[in-house]
Amino acid sequence: MTAQPHGIVELDRVAVRYGEQAVFANLSLRLEQGSFTILTGPSGAGKTSLLQLLYLAQPPSAGRVFVLGRDLAGVKRAERHKLRRRIGVVFQEHGLLDHLSAFDNVALPLRAAGQKPKDYAKDVLDLLTWVGLRDKVAALAPSLSGGERQRVAIARAIVGKPNLLIADEPTGNVDAEMSGRILRLFQELSRRGVTILIASHDVNFMRESGARIIRLADGALTEGPPARAMEKA
Ligand SMILES: Nc1ncnc2c1ncn2[C@@H]1O[C@H](COP(=O)(O)OP(=O)(O)O)[C@@H](O)[C@H]1O
Ligand SMILES: [Mg+2]
Repeated sequence: MTAQPHGIVELDRVAVRYGEQAVFANLSLRLEQGSFTILTGPSGAGKTSLLQLLYLAQPPSAGRVFVLGRDLAGVKRAERHKLRRRIGVVFQEHGLLDHLSAFDNVALPLRAAGQKPKDYAKDVLDLLTWVGLRDKVAALAPSLSGGERQRVAIARAIVGKPNLLIADEPTGNVDAEMSGRILRLFQELSRRGVTILIASHDVNFMRESGARIIRLADGALTEGPPARAMEKA
């Protein structure tokens, strides 16, 4: 086996099928370390399904998936756990725990990694402040608005300093100012070497991002000038 560079993410002729329905087949994509990519395309095209392959939520129906240089087919259970810790994920449905506060939701990955509150409290507070939620630190997740939950989910995804960040429609519920703030955060992470893949319909976000834009439609990925990809988004 040839050694894979540490940071890369690659789909090699993958397929996703749900029963009889083929969402896509023979789909290939490579993300270099530190690259910032936005995946767009119509609703139902399979964007979420593609992201799920990369955060190890489901195996492909066919093909190979490499995450952070590892072929997932060869990754044992305990190792999957470790690999997942290096991946920050913002789910479309946010996936916050209802019985926990904003603070504890953000701290979750760090606690899971065995860190103590005194070690992470400042990082968690700083991040929550940065996403404009300093006064919501103690609020339980269900009492937050959609946009606030989304920002908690973003803070949680990045608090553990992941190598790979995957976000599914992360600016769906936030206003233009917050969307710009989130964009700058992603750009900064990308500069620091974090590989970022985001599913988005947000035309302004795409336009301002400077990111590589790829479009999934009718089972195929196309790459093109951002303007064209955005026109059809
Ligand atoms: N768990 C699932 N079981 C069956 N069908 C699914 C499942 N998840 C998604 N699909 C179907 O696969 C297609 C792609 O869905 P999805 O990946 O959510 O697309 P997108 O994120 O681009 O809107 C849709 O037709 C959707 O209904
Ligand atoms: Mg989706």
